[in-house]
Amino acid sequence: MSRINIAIDGPSAAGKSTIAKNIAKKLGYVHLDTGAMYRCIGYKCQMQNVDYKNDEDMIKLLANTEIVLTADGKIYLDGQDVSQEIRTNEAGMWASNVSTREVVRKDLVARQQKMASEKGFVMDGRDIGTVVLKDAELKIFQTASVEARAKRRFLENQAKGLKEDYETIYRDIELRDYQDTHREVSPLTRAEDAILLDTSDMSIEEVTNHILELVEEKMK
Ligand code: DC
Repeated sequence: MSRINIAIDGPSAAGKSTIAKNIAKKLGYVHLDTGAMYRCIGYKCQMQNVDYKNDEDMIKLLANTEIVLTADGKIYLDGQDVSQEIRTNEAGMWASNVSTREVVRKDLVARQQKMASEKGFVMDGRDIGTVVLKDAELKIFQTASVEARAKRRFLENQAKGLKEDYETIYRDIELRDYQDTHREVSPLTRAEDAILLDTSDMSIEEVTNHILELVEEKMK
């Protein structure tokens, strides 16, 4: 086997994107951060005052939306660089809201499947192993305790100069966990064939190396 597809799913702020990016870089694969796509739609709804629960309006909005994820990690929404704007805690909540809607999921899943029609992708999200890339050769369910995730996100935000207090981040993570696992359409669940990885006490390097070992085993 020369190239495989890798699916990394798990709750918010579990470090999936960081790890997926590292793995893709090491293997020369393409990283696709599907959460960024939901964030773009949530952000656009908010900016244009569109009610995400109105399916008709959402279908129109989706049909007129271009999302481009560049190789160097930039996110373009209708030609505008929104890489920073979509990363706030608030934008995460807007993304979680729009992600409950079937019309949104259908549209974005189709885009993701089209983007990864060949092997050599590392995709991270909530439904990659269960819906988007059901046939991925390696599936990881990456998680960590709420405390560990809130602490990481807090430090990350501080480094970026984003002012969000720890308690708000902690509460929002709990809220998003609940919403992402309880929505009707494709709720966050571990695929039967996904390997569970609790990273609460692991460094980024340890997680990256562990997954690279799993990839090596798969390639044998
Ligand atoms: O991974 P993230 O925090 O950037 O994702 C933002 C939200 O988007 C998350 O709360 C749920 C939703 N999402 C989803 O439903 N399915 C995906 N494949 C990726 C993200």
